Amino acid sequence: MIKKRKNILKIAIDSPAAAGAGTLAKAIAKHYNLIYLDTGKIYRYIAYLKLKNPNNFNYKFIKNKIKLLNIKDLSKKTLLSDKVGTSASIISKNKNIRKLVHSFQINFAYNPPKKYKGSCLDGRDITYNIIPDADIKFYITANIKTRALRRYKELKEIKKNTNYNEVLKSIKKRDKSDKNRKIAPLKKTKDSLLINTTNLTKSACFLKIKKIIDRKINY
Ligand code: C5P
Repeated sequence: MIKKRKNILKIAIDSPAAAGAGTLAKAIAKHYNLIYLDTGKIYRYIAYLKLKNPNNFNYKFIKNKIKLLNIKDLSKKTLLSDKVGTSASIISKNKNIRKLVHSFQINFAYNPPKKYKGSCLDGRDITYNIIPDADIKFYITANIKTRALRRYKELKEIKKNTNYNEVLKSIKKRDKSDKNRKIAPLKKTKDSLLINTTNLTKSACFLKIKKIIDRKINY
């Protein structure tokens, strides 16, 4: 049983790839003094470990790495590549890997250090698997072309020869895989608020979400 800190604010966000959830979640966390976790980064980190250590990549190896996982490990630039993202999406279908990652995430969500008022996590199964009792849940999305363009611009910064059509194809493939997999598929739960960021600037999205949270916590 994981111990749970009482009276904390928990915000859960699910979203398909490149919908802008990470940027928003980070801004929300900062504004409300919540600890933030981009859960996709953990699957990306495992994918990166697999690419780096193809020969000793097994359950025990991953278990040890997750035991020692430090939030700083998740800030590596190499985790952002499309190759790592695609591999993460394949790895994340594995039931045993998900179990290992889940306890880390649940502990993170329910036991933020005392200096934080709560937690904000984003991913694919946060609203119904990791923080089913979150105070506020969001499903953040945008149309596929907008998402592909945003991801293309991000990737172009780290890899000059990034191709938009390839990025689009890769995101479509990832959507299909994340939404249709048997274990922990991406879905919008009934109690999640839908935020479509297609035609909204980052600050407009933030203000929209802030309004919803303020209304909820000031009740
Ligand atoms: O969010 P990001 O695109 O970095 O996530 C990489 C991959 O990790 C996703 O495509 C998805 O397959 C997986 N993931 C997941 N569950 C989460 C977060 C990410 O399965 N909570």
